[in-house]
Amino acid sequence: MRDWKRIEALQLENRDWFRPWEATNPEGPMNFDFRALVRNSLRQLNDESSLPLVIEYQGKLVGQLTVSNILHGSASTAYIGYWISPLVAGNGITPIAVALATDYMFKVVGLHRIEIDIRPENKASLRVVEKLGFRFEGTKKGFIHINNAWRDHSVFALTADEVPGGLVNKFMKH
Ligand SMILES: CC(C)(COP(=O)(O)OP(=O)(O)OC[C@H]1O[C@@H](n2cnc3c(N)ncnc32)[C@H](O)[C@@H]1OP(=O)(O)O)[C@@H](O)C(=O)NCCC(=O)NCCS
Repeated sequence: MRDWKRIEALQLENRDWFRPWEATNPEGPMNFDFRALVRNSLRQLNDESSLPLVIEYQGKLVGQLTVSNILHGSASTAYIGYWISPLVAGNGITPIAVALATDYMFKVVGLHRIEIDIRPENKASLRVVEKLGFRFEGTKKGFIHINNAWRDHSVFALTADEVPGGLVNKFMKH
């Protein structure tokens, strides 16, 4: 809970940076109650449906990475989503954060597959999955309500057997 104010400051100070890629409410205005959003994330952590993480750089919170919709059993899959402050963008922080989270979900939690969905217009985010070797699987039409409309998303995924030595290792050797 001690992180919500910093998350709020980063989000509200950088509206133009986030707006094109931000999930919106198809039925009305956006919820900018960050305290409630963090509380909701912690509820999902508690019921093990989500793993909400922050990204730190030089000891400071600079972004968030969330592993969501965690399913065990025959699916053993989850989604990863992320954002980072524009002040530290371009330093390769998000790719290493995604690699760490993916290895944790494969090796510690025991998942089999991680999916990342990205608007085809989001060149920076496309570079993140490209650097990490996530596979393009296809397009989900009108998948998520983003920036006030239903937007197509390109689907990228990785299965545990594709990175037997771990994604961090593979990425660092690259
Ligand atoms: C997508 C995002 C998380 C990438 O994070 P990052 O830590 O900057 O990732 P990288 O350092 O690997 O940079 C990725 C690409 O961003 C672009 N980029 C680099 N510096 C940048 C800057 N200052 N401003 C904008 N884009 C920049 C480059 O194309 C870079 O690719 P390159 O390394 O081949 O040059 C970040 O741009 C972001 O938070 N964007 C807004 C929210 C968002 O799009 N979330 C993802 C939704 S799917």
